[in-house]
Amino acid sequence: MSIRFDGTRKLFFLESKNTTYQMKINKMSVLEHVYYGARVGDTDMSYLHQYLDRGFSGNPFEQRAYRGCSLDLMAQEYSGCGVGDYRINSIMAVSENGSRSCDFRYKGHEIKPGKYSIPGLPSVRMNRDEMETLEITLADDVIGVQVKLLYSVLFDKDVITRSVIIKNIGCRQVQLEKAASASIDIPYGDFDLIQFHGRHCMERQMERVRLTHDIHVIGSKRGMSSHHHNPFSILCDHDATENNGNCYGFMLMYSGNHKTEIEKDQAGSVRVVTGISDDNFSWNLAAEDSFYTPETILSFSNRGLNGLSGNYHRAIRENVCDIKYLDMKRPVLINNWEATYFDFDTAKIISLAQQAHELGIEMLVLDDGWFGNRLDDNAGLGDWFVNEEKLPGGLKKIADEINALGMKFGLWFEPEMINENTKLYREHPEWVLRDPDREPMMSRNQMVLDMSRKDVQDYLYDCISAVLDSANIEYVKWDFNRSVANVYSNLLPAEKQGEVAHRFMLGTYALMERFTQNYPNVMIEGCAGGGGRFDAGILYYSPQIWCSDDTDPIARLKIQKGTSYGYPVSTMGSHVSASPNHQTGRETTFKTRGIVAMSGTFGYELDLNKLSEDEKEEIKEQIEEFHKYYWLIQKGTYYRLTDETQETYYNAWEFVSEEQDEALLNIVVTDVHANPEFPHVKLCGLKVKSTYNLEGTDKCFTGAALMNGGYSFGAMSGIYPCEQLHFVEKK
Ligand code: GLA
Repeated sequence: MSIRFDGTRKLFFLESKNTTYQMKINKMSVLEHVYYGARVGDTDMSYLHQYLDRGFSGNPFEQRAYRGCSLDLMAQEYSGCGVGDYRINSIMAVSENGSRSCDFRYKGHEIKPGKYSIPGLPSVRMNRDEMETLEITLADDVIGVQVKLLYSVLFDKDVITRSVIIKNIGCRQVQLEKAASASIDIPYGDFDLIQFHGRHCMERQMERVRLTHDIHVIGSKRGMSSHHHNPFSILCDHDATENNGNCYGFMLMYSGNHKTEIEKDQAGSVRVVTGISDDNFSWNLAAEDSFYTPETILSFSNRGLNGLSGNYHRAIRENVCDIKYLDMKRPVLINNWEATYFDFDTAKIISLAQQAHELGIEMLVLDDGWFGNRLDDNAGLGDWFVNEEKLPGGLKKIADEINALGMKFGLWFEPEMINENTKLYREHPEWVLRDPDREPMMSRNQMVLDMSRKDVQDYLYDCISAVLDSANIEYVKWDFNRSVANVYSNLLPAEKQGEVAHRFMLGTYALMERFTQNYPNVMIEGCAGGGGRFDAGILYYSPQIWCSDDTDPIARLKIQKGTSYGYPVSTMGSHVSASPNHQTGRETTFKTRGIVAMSGTFGYELDLNKLSEDEKEEIKEQIEEFHKYYWLIQKGTYYRLTDETQETYYNAWEFVSEEQDEALLNIVVTDVHANPEFPHVKLCGLKVKSTYNLEGTDKCFTGAALMNGGYSFGAMSGIYPCEQLHFVEKK
């Protein structure tokens, strides 16, 4: 049993294979957060929390005679507001009389079999794991707000999920202005904070800073999880490395506005609060109404950052993404975007498919420009019917011809968006998110549909499914190409406008749910101008997301590495594109582009007409290699071998099979040196006593040698030189 309650000590235990999470109901009935970290057995860890009468940290009324007791110092599981805890609050609830206070006390709990689910929101699935749910009820009887804290444990993966149901149990209206998904207090933390910031074409750049006595905020108010701040962050020991040290991960399973706040307080304790962003957020709770927060996926590892990533990788592959994709080989694709942009017709697309087929490519994805009057990126979004002038015979003709080659056919959509120059906008200007007294903010000359409206969702479902029904379409690239602004819905009254951003996400998820339920054979690839919605929420509906609009392999090294801290390579859309690269102008070899793209879902995105015969041969070989290593890459354990904290001029990573009987070592040199120090890495995850042969040579090494002594590459020169080495256990 991974969840238990010790009634004598009033202690809750959540236990996974390697971690313990403890909470305690204290004498004031406040639910204290006691411990989260490596397994500690049965010890009540509350001895770690020592309290002192600290000036200006006041005392609850019932404890006024004992000044050492203050909510401002107490480690809490879900902090209230306005009652003397001056650190980050988890909730802001405003009562009808304007009072802004909430003081939660324990009321009861239940341990139930199975995993809870959250209405309208994606959440971790139980699938093949055994899971239980702990539901702890806290309430403030004065304002009449109850919170049910929900917990589940993925035992083997060292993952704990949390969510909260906030209910108005009084008889008066309550307005929520903040509703976090989780809060956690860790005492004695000398931590570094790692977050993944970025921009369009440069997503998830890892940044690591020492935590000081201030408040760090990581978040997005762009109506999307964003290129700019991923909803995933890590706290790790100041001296933690890729393979050593304590690391905590905080991942929000949400694709809209989010916020994670981290505060080191006066006593050196660290509080992390994560959830939906409270910027431009409010939610009206009438009597008996409930609000469901998105889920937070927590994990802990004392095996460094690689250990933490491994926990998330397994949980995302097996419990976030639809399990059917776990053992399903996904096709190597060619996307026409960087091959043709908007300049294509039926003949060009079919010819691209024919050439691709000869090289071993298995699917063609027709990108932007096939619908309405979409001749460039100024018109057409929303008119989801095929442009028969550009594509005579429609999509059916293209899909049939592609299918006849033995290939699959996929199609691009951008459902949440609308252009002014469309039939849809002329008929339904009121469907746009728009401040009634203001011109809308434009981006890529497009506006955003009001996804909170059921009629908008129904329109999109009907017209997109008509397209899906019209031809054999087995893949959809679901794009989202701008930040949201003018968050105002025509359908809602003034006092509900603070709800629109979240209702927008609920509408989007509802639409995605409808498509995944009703079109189980259509695989969705998420996309938002590349990786602007690379989050666990989208991964619930689509097993892969286009990682970045920057396809330059050298830029991709950093983007994919940053992404790998939280997300497995099986989710990272990654293609070989042209050289010089269209975004950066950089020239690279096919081999380097191939090695980088292979550490993802793999495909091509370039004009095959412009390739030499030698290059086409290289593509064939790359595809064969990819097939050979497919399961090792997609399901193997991934290790970053070059530490961000070390100055290296190369980037190396490794995949190890579950049986530890083979490993694929990859290296790309990003800055060639004359007379160099040799690139050298220590491999991970092998069997110490086994002997491994470097395939294609007669060289053999023990696992211990490769892990302790490492592997030296010797001098590597040329244009971003690279190697991909396969080590196989000798049986
Ligand atoms: C976004 C995507 C690209 C491509 C274009 C089409 O930028 O990330 O891959 O689909 O839209 O407009």
